[in-house]
Amino acid sequence: MLLQNKKILLGITGGIAAYKCAHLIRLFIKEGAEVKVIMTQAATEFITPQTASVLSKNTVITDFFDEAQNWNNHVHLAEWADFILFAPLTANTLAKFSSGICDNMVTACYLSARSLVFVAPAMDLDMYQHPTTKNNSALLAKNGNQIIPAESGELASGLSGEGRMAEPENIVDFIKNYLSKNLPLINKKVLVNAGPTFETIDPVRFIGNRSSGKTGIAIADEFASQGAEVTLVLGPSAHRPKNSSVKIISVESAEEMHQACITIFPNVDIAVLTAAVADYKPKAKELQKIKKIGEELNLELIKTKDILGDLGKLKKQQCLIGFALETENAIEYAKQKLQNKNLDIIIANTTSEKNPAFGSDFNTLTIIDKHNNLLNFELKSKLELAKDIVNYIKTFDGIK
Ligand code: CTP
Repeated sequence: MLLQNKKILLGITGGIAAYKCAHLIRLFIKEGAEVKVIMTQAATEFITPQTASVLSKNTVITDFFDEAQNWNNHVHLAEWADFILFAPLTANTLAKFSSGICDNMVTACYLSARSLVFVAPAMDLDMYQHPTTKNNSALLAKNGNQIIPAESGELASGLSGEGRMAEPENIVDFIKNYLSKNLPLINKKVLVNAGPTFETIDPVRFIGNRSSGKTGIAIADEFASQGAEVTLVLGPSAHRPKNSSVKIISVESAEEMHQACITIFPNVDIAVLTAAVADYKPKAKELQKIKKIGEELNLELIKTKDILGDLGKLKKQQCLIGFALETENAIEYAKQKLQNKNLDIIIANTTSEKNPAFGSDFNTLTIIDKHNNLLNFELKSKLELAKDIVNYIKTFDGIK
């Protein structure tokens, strides 16, 4: 079910085909999607907001302000959506989209969209063929919108030809085809952890490490760009994912990271643990700042919980991937960790003066899986490595 739980914002503009949106909403709901509808004033002449509201089970927005003069936030609406569909898209609103005019809720949501946008144009034959319309449509396509071509048939004007809005079934098929081709991980849930952890010594000091979190963040971004629903449990890192759909849970200590990962893990398909988790933490957290008294200070440390190891024990259907950072015998140690922690895949990398790995934008690594396959990647950017890693995981043991 490609559309299961997908959040769809449907923008209806004022063409006769708007009446078909009642059926379109029902099809989306049947597919398990959640639908919110916005309409231009002209669209309300062809389908009532009440009809769309009953079918979508959501309030329908037709204006920047509702009856109680509350402002409808178009940015939040556009952010809420996994994708936005404008259907039918009239020649008029198409022209507004292509020139950036923003004079109603529908055009404002278009301009605020960060997600995927589909448009299903519908107009009379000559309007559809007009060079202006063709230019506007080409500009929308060039800007990354997906155009669902109009179909041929009888038009409201009495003419017959190209210009009818694609039938609702065809719109749904078009979107599903697009999603399965371009977002191959659309129904996968992924947990990634990244960054260092900070273990408190006293109110002003901690034990940390030099991890930047860049590799894990790049992996989270790559999974999201392939359609996966990604939760990133992020230690104290200065970096953030580019993809706004990545859900970030910020943590500081190994204990907090453990808690977050254990909670999320049962509901994911894939977990990639890249974080440089502290192996030891101070036995006691001093409540007051430690004063400089003696010549020596001994800190008593105790082991932290092994997050990856604990996920390995809890593992059911999930594909579990760990990292191994070594300074020597990388492959051998990595293979041991793969076995001991019940992993499916381990990614070995080394740190040395020549290739520091930590903090750098580049790295080399080796992927080893539980079937003893081994794949080396030469020095390349962490962004490219993230693509290689995600593409490897994607084809592993029936994930896709
Ligand atoms: N890891 C973890 N929890 C810890 C320590 C490590 O989940 N408390 C995870 C890391 O995120 C990484 C993997 O375990 O995916 C391997 O980390 P690494 O530091 O290489 O190995 P350790 O298990 O800590 O063993 P050692 O330090 O002895 O090599």
